[in-house]
Amino acid sequence: MKVLLINGSPHEKGCTYTALREAADELERQGIETEIFHIGTAPVGGCVGCGGCKKAGHCVFGSPLPEALEKAKTADGFIFGSPVHYAAASGSMTGFLDRLFMSGGAALKYKPAAAVVSARRAGTTAALDQLQKYMTFGNMLLVGSQYWTMVHGKTPEDVRRDEEGLQTMRVLARNMAWVLKCLEAGKAAGVPLPEGEERIYTSFIR
Ligand SMILES: Cc1cc2nc3c(=O)[nH]c(=O)nc-3n(C[C@H](O)[C@H](O)[C@H](O)COP(=O)(O)O)c2cc1C
Repeated sequence: MKVLLINGSPHEKGCTYTALREAADELERQGIETEIFHIGTAPVGGCVGCGGCKKAGHCVFGSPLPEALEKAKTADGFIFGSPVHYAAASGSMTGFLDRLFMSGGAALKYKPAAAVVSARRAGTTAALDQLQKYMTFGNMLLVGSQYWTMVHGKTPEDVRRDEEGLQTMRVLARNMAWVLKCLEAGKAAGVPLPEGEERIYTSFIR
């Protein structure tokens, strides 16, 4: 079983990475394989609503979406991490998630997922709310911890001193490992995936 951890910070080894690393190390100790995927430093544009993914089966715009989607297909669980930028997820992470969830829903649904944020000081719960909305829209199973899944710091050293934040990451990782093992046991016992329904689209004017 594998968890894909997405680092939505421009800093490959910054604060968000430090939080994700703590979770990944604990997942590994629980026997779960991990990979941390960095969305990169180049700005990631949002979805332009072209509908190209409906025909192609993947976002028709480039990096880092195609690589991430390939990895998502074989991942059993996800942790989406972002720094807090103006009380929200980073702009690139927002663009990345808009396009990932628009084009890659099949690779995500029925899989456990969590969000993690890093901030110097404030805006954490607003950013977490934003990130968790993707998962609860996309048929994912939201995993929590013993506190909201955030760390605090401006540098990785700060985050390493945030003992409560790091503990929250480790507990999150153990909860994620437990959910993954329960899902595996359910599958082995023959519990089927929930039955979906053909999507009904309405808008408020009809
Ligand atoms: C554009 C920008 C906006 C930021 N906005 C906030 C904010 O609203 N609240 C906050 O506490 N920190 C804010 N920060 C600081 C980062 O969230 C914080 O340093 C974070 O831990 C950095 O994580 P990283 O090293 O993974 O990028 C901001 C940083 C940047 C670059």
